[in-house]
Amino acid sequence: MSQKEEVSLEISKDGPYIVKNVAILRNSKGNSLETQPVMALCRCVSSKNKPFCDGSHLEIAFKDEMN
Ligand code: FES
Repeated sequence: MSQKEEVSLEISKDGPYIVKNVAILRNSKGNSLETQPVMALCRCVSSKNKPFCDGSHLEIAFKDEMN
């Protein structure tokens, strides 16, 4: 019997969403993407590898005053 890990989402300060244990991930076109146990998803809209964070938020000095 397998034990499922809890799915979680964390908003990192001025950085990506950190998602854990997501089994299914689709891009904006509805295509399935390979998942990893821990993934960083872009929320600054500048990544060249969307939906994944590629560190571009650091280059643009992304700031989210709410989080
Ligand atoms: S949040 Fe890291 S590239 Fe957008």
